[in-house]
Amino acid sequence: MTVAWGGFCSSQPACVTVSLRKATYSHASIIARKAYTVNVPSSAQVALVDYVGIVSGRDVDKFAITGFTAVRSGVVDAPYIEEVPLVLECRLAQIVQVGIQTMFVGEIADMKADVTGHENPRDVGEGIWGSGCSASKGSNWSGA
Ligand SMILES: Cc1cc2nc3c(=O)[nH]c(=O)nc-3n(C[C@H](O)[C@H](O)[C@H](O)COP(=O)(O)O)c2cc1C
Repeated sequence: MTVAWGGFCSSQPACVTVSLRKATYSHASIIARKAYTVNVPSSAQVALVDYVGIVSGRDVDKFAITGFTAVRSGVVDAPYIEEVPLVLECRLAQIVQVGIQTMFVGEIADMKADVTGHENPRDVGEGIWGSGCSASKGSNWSGA
């Protein structure tokens, strides 16, 4: 799903939040899997991301319609999108109810970033995050 409400909330351990309404399909999925991924699109992908934010995975196969490719994360129980330039793979660390939104705090277990200027993500691990991050290099990407 598309999320606007979220952001980094800790550097050590590196954590990122997303705030979801309970009615979303993604909400139950995050609780069941205790994990989620944050997929940051390029500007060229904005229209597809907008579409992902107006339909529910309960009703349609968003991957089939958008052409995005779902890849199983090697470190958390959640898929990520192959075509986006930045992926954060998060283990659910805390759940905070804030009004009608549930704020999920995820510890970043790994990340994949495009360091080549192309759309395919590459694992750069601590290269981007520096010493304050717990992210480590994954085994399913060869690196740039
Ligand atoms: C630009 C944009 C930003 C959005 N931000 C949020 C958000 O921060 N939290 C939320 O609960 N829904 C947000 N939505 C709405 C969800 O993406 C939408 O309800 C989506 O259909 C849920 O998908 P799902 O049912 O497959 O999980 C946003 C939608 C758009 C288009």
